[in-house]
Amino acid sequence: MPNSIPPLPVNPLREGLTSRSLPVPCALVIFGATGDLTHRKLVPAIYNLAADGALPPALSVVGFARREKSDETFRTELHEAAQKFSRQTINPELWASFSSSLFYHRSEFDNLEGYESLARRLDELDAERGTRGNRLFYLAASPDQFPVILENLRRSGLNEGRNGGWARVIVEKPFGTDLPTARVLNTLVDEAFAERDTYRIDHYLGKETAQNIMVLRFANAIFEGMWNSRYIDHVQITASEPLGVEGRAGYYDKSGALRDMVQNHLLQLLCLTAMEPPTGLDADAIRDEKVKVLRSLRPLHGEDVFRHVVRGQYFAGTINGKRVAGYRDEANVDPTSVTETYVALELNIDNWRWAGVPFFVRVGKRLPKGGTEIAIHFKSVPPVLFKATGEAIDDNVLVIRIQPDEGVSLRMSAKMPGSSLRIEPVKMDFHYGTSFGKATPEAYERLLLDAMSGDATLFARRDEVEEAWKFVDEIRAAWATRSDDIAFYEAGSWGPGAADDLIKRHGSSWRRL
Ligand code: BG6
Repeated sequence: MPNSIPPLPVNPLREGLTSRSLPVPCALVIFGATGDLTHRKLVPAIYNLAADGALPPALSVVGFARREKSDETFRTELHEAAQKFSRQTINPELWASFSSSLFYHRSEFDNLEGYESLARRLDELDAERGTRGNRLFYLAASPDQFPVILENLRRSGLNEGRNGGWARVIVEKPFGTDLPTARVLNTLVDEAFAERDTYRIDHYLGKETAQNIMVLRFANAIFEGMWNSRYIDHVQITASEPLGVEGRAGYYDKSGALRDMVQNHLLQLLCLTAMEPPTGLDADAIRDEKVKVLRSLRPLHGEDVFRHVVRGQYFAGTINGKRVAGYRDEANVDPTSVTETYVALELNIDNWRWAGVPFFVRVGKRLPKGGTEIAIHFKSVPPVLFKATGEAIDDNVLVIRIQPDEGVSLRMSAKMPGSSLRIEPVKMDFHYGTSFGKATPEAYERLLLDAMSGDATLFARRDEVEEAWKFVDEIRAAWATRSDDIAFYEAGSWGPGAADDLIKRHGSSWRRL
């Protein structure tokens, strides 16, 4: 990237903080380069990394897709997308230089020759731009194309780096649609790439506050000692979206919230919250601990599913003063669809640390407000000392806000000023924005950088993905036996009443976001 562009001003609050070294130069090949993910997430992420000076100048991005297109047209389209979706305003001078590293390669996914000509083109880029035989392949095409892409990468020899370089693959979600399909995909990936060169994306792991969970837990002496069933009453994990299916109904109607969000993002957040301290910070040490959490999840099957899981679907309603259609009326949704757009689960982790502490997880579309958070609800104080005052004392709650307004808050009780003893809840609140004065990077920025640097810590390992499917498949098997349990909720409400009843049985209620 251009050295002539003046660097952005240094934030004084960040001065002295450790910064990472640049990854080595490589060619990033994106399969599905004309798709939504490339436009909305990948190219804006690469541009922002370039603008922050985080990429090596020789990085070359090659879009691989079916439509006929020149490099120039491709660059113009990406420019428009970046202007629309980038978190930083596009600097015209920087874009001009950045766009010279973008290339387009047209081919059908099932045409081996297209891969062979790609190999020649990458060799040329090595010579012209200094990408040193390193290749990073990003599978951002439709998942039904993954097998043929992987096979052709292997047959064309692209799965090996050139001249001592490396070859890695990033696989977008969904990683399979159940355990058998995930296993087949894992085997296909494995035939072409070693596990250490395989990067299964779960973009929630790239979110700044998700990464902060481990730091909060293990770099602070005060929390870890209380992070167990002795002090914690229950945990709530919420991911709420006001959005509906946004033109993705074709995919979503076959998937549903359980597979779209719980199998990956929410179980990953649960793992980070519940895991034991890892033996080190390397990828496998952390992933070893996460997979143990998944293995300790108490399986839900048969009737248990209907007792511990609530599924819902939205009907027409109002969000932010705007009328929105019901799920069954969305374009490309089967009008008799029983796909869930909301799920609430009561999960138990059967290990020493968490025995008897339920984890309540909920996720839904067309809810009133967007937000993802983890709330640790501590046990009540013994009802002794302040009993006589008649004051109700709220329990302590530690909230980790994954998004928006990333941060952490702790609710505690305090005496209200005055001559009488009145106890009120107050909040200690840390906001990333004000403490570090810097917009948090998009998850994809961090993840792309890590894959280029060979760091798989924030990517899911084969066994994690398979364990998560095993758990989710049992729930789906029970759901397949009936559909009268689907609880309908109005768009713009906080989900079905049955989800409130689920947590009420524990004597609690969902936190208001
Ligand atoms: C995706 C799901 O993985 O995550 C979408 O497929 C969902 O349905 C999205 O909207 C939420 O991501 P974020 O980063 O906006 O919370």
